Formats: sequence, C-alpha cells, structure tokens
Amino acid sequence: MCGIVGYIGENNCVPIIVEGLKRLEYRGYDSSGISIIKEKEILTYKKEGKIYNMEAILPKELSGKIGIGHTRWATHGGVSDKNAHPHLSQNGKISIIHNGIIENYIELKKKLIDEGYTFRSETDSEVIAYLLEKNYNGNFEETFYKTLQQLEGAYGILAICLSEPDYIMVARKGSPLIIGIGENEMFVASDANAFLGYTKQVVYLEDYEIAKIEKKQYITKNFRLESIQKKVNTIDWDQTALDKGDFSHYMLKEIFEQPESIRRAFAGRIIQNIGTVKLGGLNLTPQELFNIERVNIIACGTSYHAGLVGSYVIEELARVATRVEIASEFRYKNPIIEKGTISFAVSQSGETIDTLFAMREIQRKGAKVLGICNVVGSTIPRESNGGVYVHSGPEVAVASTKAFTSQLIAFYLFATLIGRMRDLGQFRGIELVSEIEMLPNKVQEILNNSKYIENIAEKYTKLDNFLFLGRGLSYPVALEGALKLKEISYLHAEGVPAGEIKHGPIALIDKKTPVIFIMPDDHLFEKTFSNMQEVRARGGIILSICNEKNVKKIKGIADDVIVIPETESIFSSLLTIIPLQLLSYYIAKNLGCDIDKPRNLAKSVTVE
Ligand code: M6R
Repeated sequence: MCGIVGYIGENNCVPIIVEGLKRLEYRGYDSSGISIIKEKEILTYKKEGKIYNMEAILPKELSGKIGIGHTRWATHGGVSDKNAHPHLSQNGKISIIHNGIIENYIELKKKLIDEGYTFRSETDSEVIAYLLEKNYNGNFEETFYKTLQQLEGAYGILAICLSEPDYIMVARKGSPLIIGIGENEMFVASDANAFLGYTKQVVYLEDYEIAKIEKKQYITKNFRLESIQKKVNTIDWDQTALDKGDFSHYMLKEIFEQPESIRRAFAGRIIQNIGTVKLGGLNLTPQELFNIERVNIIACGTSYHAGLVGSYVIEELARVATRVEIASEFRYKNPIIEKGTISFAVSQSGETIDTLFAMREIQRKGAKVLGICNVVGSTIPRESNGGVYVHSGPEVAVASTKAFTSQLIAFYLFATLIGRMRDLGQFRGIELVSEIEMLPNKVQEILNNSKYIENIAEKYTKLDNFLFLGRGLSYPVALEGALKLKEISYLHAEGVPAGEIKHGPIALIDKKTPVIFIMPDDHLFEKTFSNMQEVRARGGIILSICNEKNVKKIKGIADDVIVIPETESIFSSLLTIIPLQLLSYYIAKNLGCDIDKPRNLAKSVTVE
C-alpha cells in the first residue's frame, strides 16, 4: 500500500528518496512523487504509473538536503498525476505526503472552498496541505499540531515548509512510520526497508505520536504535546536479504528460500530429548499455558489460511477448541471472548490494519493477544502481549510464500507445547519435533523437482477457472493454492472443501475445468479419491498432489500427478503447498504477468 520516505541531512536527498521508494515498490502502488526544498521554492514532481515514469521527469541536476517522497495506492480519486502525492498547499510553500484516509475531508474541503481555496486533486489528502497553509502562524511545528486536531481518520503524515526548511514534521495515527537515525542525517519511512542501506538504528512511532525531525536530532511528542523518550532499536536484516540474486523474481527466490526460512522458524525452540518446545516470547507462565481453554485466531489472506491450518493442528495435538476468523469481519462484531481464551493475531507484515484493529478490540475486552509475525518491530508485535516471530526474513513479493510456511511452523510448535502439557506423552512429543526438524529437507526435495512442475504448468497456463479441492488439513491449502494463482496470474480460482463440491461447485465442471486435488496420504485420502472420480466422470482435467504410495492408484484417473515426500499427516499442509506455489508462479510467468507486483494489490494492507 502507499509508501512514505523522507530525508534530511547533508547528502543529496533525491537519489536517497527515489531509491527508498523503489525499496517500497513491493508494497503495491499506482503513482509516485517527490518534493524537495530548493532555495526559494518547493520543487515537486509526480507521475502516474511506475517510479521510472516519475524518475524520467526529474531534472538531472535536481538536488536538495530535505525532501519527501511517496508511492500512492489509490483510495480517494483515480490514478492520475494530479492525484499522486506529494500535495502542495495552494501557495506552494508547504508540501505533504499522507498514508491512510482522512474521513472528514469532504466537510473540510467544502469549508476551504467556501473560503476561496481551489483544489487541484480529487484526494482526501490535499486538505491537509491546504489546512496547514490556512493555519500557518509563522511556526510550522505549532501549525502542524493545530492542524492534526482538525483531522479525523487514519494517517501517517510527513510535511515540509519552505519558510522553515530545517525539519520535517511527522505524525502517526493508524499508519506506520519509522525514523532512521544516521550520522548528520535522518530518515523517516513507512517501512524500514526504505533506508536499511543507510542505517539500522530505528525508532518506531506509535499511534498518536508526533516527531519533529532535524538533521542531527528528532523530538518526539504525544498528541497532548508532552515530550516522550523513544527507545532506539537495531534492525538485524541486512540489505542483501532484499536483493533478488540470480532469481528472475522475488517470489521464486522466496519459494526457494523456504528450507532455510522454515529452519529459522524452529531454530532454538525445540527440546529434542523431552519432545517439547520453548516459546519464551509468549510471555506466559507454565500455569497460564496450562490454563488455556480456547484459542482464537484472527488474520487476513494467506495468514488467515495459516490460521486455519493452525486450528486443525491445535485441536488435534492439544485438544483445545480453536476458532479462526477473518480479521476484517471480526473487528466489527461484538465478539464473545470467553474466559480462558488466548488469541493469536497472525500477520506477515505486522501492519495489516484489520488484524491490528481486531487485536485491539480483543485487548479492550481484557484478553491477551499473541502475535505470530514476521516483520520485527512492526505494530502488531509491539502492541501484542507476546508472541512468536517467525524469522522468515524480508518477504518482498506481494504473494506471500515463505511467511506462510513459517507461520505453520509457529502453530506446530505452539500445538506441540500445549499438547505436551495435556495428552501428548514424551515419545509422541519426540516423534513430532523430530518430524518438524525433517521438514526443511522434504521441502528441498520438492524444490529439486521444480523443472517437472514448470513443465506441467505449460499445459495449465492455457486453462482458466481452476478449482482447488482438499479435505481437513488440505482444505486451507486448497484456499491458499487458489489465492496464489489468482493473485499473480489473474486466472479465476476457487478453493473448496472436497466434500462440498456435490453441494454446488460440481455444476462448474466440464471438459475444460482444471481441478487440483490436494490429497496427501491421510485418513481422508479415500474420501477425496471418491471426489476425484466424480470429477473424472464429468470430464474435468485433474492434477493431483499426493504421496508416492498412492501414485499408481491416482494415475488411472488423474491427468497429472505431483509427488510429495511422506510426512506425519498433521504436517502435510507445509509440503502440499510448495508445488502449488511453484505451479502458480510458472503459470503467471508463462502468462507474462507482473509476478512480484500484481495489479491492484499491495504487500501491506494498511487501509480498510
Ligand atoms: O501482512 P499480513 O500477513 O497481515 O497480510 C495479510 C494479507 O494481506 C496477505 O496475506 C495477502 O493475502 C497476500 N497478498 C497473500 O499472498
């Protein structure tokens, strides 16, 4: 979603901001722009489309020591040059960039128009620049505070003022902002990836916090204008983790990183000899863990699918009732949080607004929420009562892959931990943790077979309207497989519980319908096999993901088969998803799609 980058210091801000915006491209955007203060004016360049469109209009000699840049993902107003950020005040002396939504902008805009202001864009954001101009009293810092009081909604805002060119004003309410501390230079961005090449020392702003950022210092205050001391954190990701290396896309790189990212997710957390797990970050005493009566999982998209897998695994291994809800639905319910419930907010980015707000609602009801997140220091882990970092490393491609498999590991570990406090004995525990430790090698085995999947993908590239079917632990994988395919190839795909097809979706099946069956060798195999015969009888084109043991049986019916290694059936989802990630990738590649930045999508969904 929209990206924000600001710089003040001794170097030329233009390449730093443009490079920072490129580092945020993966979040999704449809226009970009930059404003810098240059002697007696604010120079602004903005353009619809990719960042190189905007770069192409930048004068070669353009330079400045203070500037702000933005990638916009349209909400209010179409995709156009005029709606791109930054937005200038009417007199051109103030420039702002904004992430989020100003909910009362219609009313504010109307008043400003009545007072004679003429707006240039259709956005909600432009009113901020105009209000700043109207309120300006010779002290930009004070003006900024006053203006914030008039804004309703969610925002991350950066503002610069020509008459006071030595600082950037910044405010956060609902949209992430991080200050990067350099030597005689400061950065500010909506995502630390924007400036990781320059500094790893960061300060995370919380909601209702403001900062005045100068070259050598920053001053932080809350919305009551009381000074606050912020902790400086060190980010441990390095820039190389953000490079594509020899891979043609980040998505492919991230798929292939999974043996390693999965290993990192359980590293140091397994106690082999007694078959259990330690998850210190949960911040729960053994007694509190023992007393858990119910688990509640909230998440969106792929993280929701990981939560679904988690619910099967927790109920099976720990015998604790578990419900999973889509955060955007949950947040507007009046949810019943029973005593003894522990909640998980699952999020790769840690910034998804629906998950964050659902989490806050649970906390308001007095219950604890644990995060299962990837991005260290992001808002959800900061505001949660504890949790598990999955340590996948930066996930750049919009389509989530390695974060999903690491989220599964987090649930496997949690279920084993709680299970061992209940019905699971030591030997069963040892079996489980030993199997978890073998998963990276099994994933590697599937990846070694990628050429075969690439060949199969050719045939499926010519088809459309895919059905993904699975039962039990393969049902969330069916959903995730379908999501991957539609996100990056724009082909229609639907994930359905295999047992449900007779209740409707079977009507879709004809000789042109590709049906992907996810059917590891578990207790539901025979049931899914019957569904496969029903599809065959109607002429559907069948691709099956299965184990070697069942290949012979399936080959008589399916058109294509992808074999995955054997595992404990409880962990099958982590293996069955890998060929589906690869299949989607190769289909999208054959179709020439923009795989890492699919149309209309954003990596981090920070608006409702
Ligand atoms: O960062 P989060 O895990 O909270 O993101 C949730 C969804 O927006 C995300 O999983 C989305 O569905 C991805 N594009 C899936 O590939």
